[in-house]
Amino acid sequence: MKKAIYPGTFDPPTLGHLNIIQRAAAKFDTLVVAIGENPLKKTKFSIEERRELLKTITADLSNVEVLAFGGLLVDFAKEQKIDIIVRAIRTIFDFESETLQAEMNRHLGGVETLYFAVDEKYRLISSTLIREIASHGKRLDRFIPKEIEEVVYRRLFKQL
Ligand code: COA
Repeated sequence: MKKAIYPGTFDPPTLGHLNIIQRAAAKFDTLVVAIGENPLKKTKFSIEERRELLKTITADLSNVEVLAFGGLLVDFAKEQKIDIIVRAIRTIFDFESETLQAEMNRHLGGVETLYFAVDEKYRLISSTLIREIASHGKRLDRFIPKEIEEVVYRRLFKQL
C-alpha cells in the first residue's frame, strides 16, 4: 500500500492546497495531510482550527487523513511509515527552497520528495496574501474552498 505525506502550514488552507491534495490523493492509496506545528511561526489559525478546516475540505476524499506534527518532518514520516513527501511548486523561487528542503530530508531520513506543479489558476495564491486581503475586507471566494470561505473570512477580517 503506497502512502505519501503532504506537509504544510495551511494558515489557512487554500484552493491551491486543495488542488494538490486531490491530485496527490488520486496517485496514492493514502495521503496524510500533515500540519506542521512550528512554535516560531506565529499562525493566525490554531492547530485545531487548521485541522478542522482541512477535514472539512477533504471530507469527500476517503483516502485522506489529516494529522498534525511537531519536530522534524522526517521523524514524523518515519513514525507514519511513509517515505514520500509531496510538495507543490509555484515558481522558480519555490523550486530553489523546496530543493534544499528535499535534499535535507533525503539525507536526514532517506525520504524522497515528489513535486507537483501548481495549476496556473492557483499560482498567485499564498496564505500570507489571503490573510492580508481578508483583513482589508475583500471576500476570498476565488482563493478559498467555498465550504470554509465564510469562517476564514470572518476570522481574518480586521484581524491582521
Ligand atoms: N497553491 C498555492 N499556494 C501554495 C500551495 C499551492 N498548492 N502550496 C503552498 N502554497 C503556499 C502557502 O500558502 C504558503 O504561503 P505563505 O508563505 O504565504 O504562508 C507557502 O506556499 C509555503 O507554505 P507551506 O507549503 O505550508 O510550506 P512551509 O514553507 O510553511 O513549510 C513545512 C511547512 C511543515 C513543510 C516545513 O516547515 C517543515 O517541514 N517543518 C518541519 C521541520 C523540519 O523538518 N524542518 C527541516 C526541513 S529540511
